[in-house]
Amino acid sequence: MSALRSAQFVVALTGAGVSAESGVPTFRQAQTGLWAQFDPAELATPEAFARNPDRVWAWYAWRRSLVEQAEPNPAHRALAELARRLPRFTLITQNVDGLHQRAGSAEVIELHGSLQRYRCAICATPVAIPAEAHPPRSPVCVRCGGHIRPDVVWFGEPLPEAALSAAFDAARRAQVFLSIGTSGLVEPAASLARVSSRAGALVVHVNPEQPANMSAGDIYLCGRAGEILPIILARLAEVGQENAR
Ligand code: OAD
Repeated sequence: MSALRSAQFVVALTGAGVSAESGVPTFRQAQTGLWAQFDPAELATPEAFARNPDRVWAWYAWRRSLVEQAEPNPAHRALAELARRLPRFTLITQNVDGLHQRAGSAEVIELHGSLQRYRCAICATPVAIPAEAHPPRSPVCVRCGGHIRPDVVWFGEPLPEAALSAAFDAARRAQVFLSIGTSGLVEPAASLARVSSRAGALVVHVNPEQPANMSAGDIYLCGRAGEILPIILARLAEVGQENAR
């Protein structure tokens, strides 16, 4: 805790586990209902979209409806509060659910895009589609006639360059790097913790299961993000009050 309190620059990377307590299934959790028979890795690809745009569109419409019904949980809210309490804080997420922003996090580096954004699959023209007017099938781009797709990163696609470079830059400059609710299986996000550790940061993993990308010297806090992050926040406040005395 003293490292967190004295840190001038804290970085947090979140994965699907930070939204699990909001009822949003993690990426590797079994799909439920209508989509149980589909493997996300089979749907979240440019090839799947080219083959059957309406099926991929419907899967994302289902995922977006899940997220619209979800609420930010204490983990999201604790991270938004940490940003207000610490001298410098950068939040990086692999999630596409927008729950950090709904919890009050003003600046979020979205490595994998967002379910709330859309673009043309051919000319990349951004398209705004409100949740309440979500078309049942993939609309056609008015500029080029291509199909509109969710603005998320699919398997085999590059991550947004600006977001990726901002994330690695922050990881290299952090004194403390919090890796929260991610299995640490998917690159390049999984390398951020290692890069931060090698640059001298204290890396802390928060997860009920030990993630795959732990390095020697990392701290592992076994538990749910919605339970552990509010404790970290409360302890930080106590240390702050002690120092103020
Ligand atoms: P995963 O589904 O791979 O891992 C979720 C992690 O959250 C697991 O390690 C769980 O143990 C952990 N977890 C579950 N409940 C939790 C809780 N209450 N508190 C804290 N942790 C909890 O999801 P990600 O690691 O986010 O990429 O997956 C990374 C990327 O893999 C996704 O962004 C997606 C996928 O390929 C794209 O879609 C491009």
